[in-house]
Amino acid sequence: MRLLVLGTGVMAKNQLTHFSKIDGVTVVGAVDTDPDRLSAFADKFNIEKRFHSLDEAIAWGEFDAATNITPDRIHHPTTMALIAAGKHALCEKPLAENYPKALEMTEAAEKAGVINMVNLTYRNVAPLQRAREMVLAGELGTIKHVEASYLQSWLVSRAWGDWRTESTWLWRLSTGHGSNGVLGDVGIHILDFAAYGAATDIDHVFARLKTFNKAPGGQIGEYMLDANDSFTMSVDFANGALGVIHASRWATGHLNELKLRIYGEKGSLEVIHRPSGSELRGCLGEDAETATWREIEVTPVPTNYQRFAEAVASGIQPDPNFRHAANLQKVLDLAMVTERERRELKV
Ligand SMILES: NC(=O)c1ccc[n+]([C@@H]2O[C@H](COP(=O)([O-])OP(=O)(O)OC[C@H]3O[C@@H](n4cnc5c(N)ncnc54)[C@H](O)[C@@H]3O)[C@@H](O)[C@H]2O)c1
Repeated sequence: MRLLVLGTGVMAKNQLTHFSKIDGVTVVGAVDTDPDRLSAFADKFNIEKRFHSLDEAIAWGEFDAATNITPDRIHHPTTMALIAAGKHALCEKPLAENYPKALEMTEAAEKAGVINMVNLTYRNVAPLQRAREMVLAGELGTIKHVEASYLQSWLVSRAWGDWRTESTWLWRLSTGHGSNGVLGDVGIHILDFAAYGAATDIDHVFARLKTFNKAPGGQIGEYMLDANDSFTMSVDFANGALGVIHASRWATGHLNELKLRIYGEKGSLEVIHRPSGSELRGCLGEDAETATWREIEVTPVPTNYQRFAEAVASGIQPDPNFRHAANLQKVLDLAMVTERERRELKV
């Protein structure tokens, strides 16, 4: 696969460490509107062709697929252009800033017959995949209750850089720059983590969102800091279970932690993923009587990057595809309406 990298910021570096290890993948070009970032990135990863716009790269055309790692609001116009040019697309999450745009991208990709995948990175977490298998195999019985959280602390700590001065964090705090806050940024990850792990879909949602004051006048330079920083959500799942899902950028002491607990009539599971690693624990069968939890061994799973490369080679559409991401975006859009109207909505 001849791969074009679109957007050469923080996440692009992470993606390239994976793509560069996959046999059969050659990164043939990179695009960024910021010339300094583009040359530093292309030098670091030895990429020969460099473009200052996607249009230039499409006019050149010598690539099969692109990985779109631009800011959220850029995903829609650029992915639509890639699809129109007949290119396969891996797009970063969230697919778009709202459901109508995400649906338009989905329908265009399906009509063009290109491979389309959204980078819900936590599908790479082996304990999540094992948990889903156990749920589907009936090992937990009927699922009654689900708890899921995504905790970050970059508004408190400088471990990942300083949001007060760096554009990579500032655009995430500003609706005018296309961000739906923590809900749009990592909400899509934790909704997918919960629903995929519990092997069901969300069908009712009620959310509360909060934006804390972070700077004088709520503004830094061109960035109005008006996007939400924390959310709490109660949901109903299609399998009848009730769930609570929440996320915050103010979770002091947690750099990046996803936690999922699935409670069934015959057993329960807990998946935890942190930068230091992930784990799966279960309380199953007779252990329910003594509330004894045991670690469950898991085997590694292929990454989204490996599965995207395989899909381009085989022509078989991988999961999670654009349609799945669009459906999650619908839940996120409704969550924002529920905050305004203070009432539960059906998905
Ligand atoms: N899957 C994950 O776990 C994960 C993690 C982090 C970020 N992300 C996603 O990745 C995307 C990028 O995030 P980031 O942290 O790397 O942001 P970033 O701001 O560090 O990088 C984005 C880059 O895109 C460039 N850009 C902007 N407009 C462009 C255009 N029209 N054409 C080409 N390049 C353009 C910017 O100059 C910048 O270099 C976001 O959508 C984010 O949600 C996903």
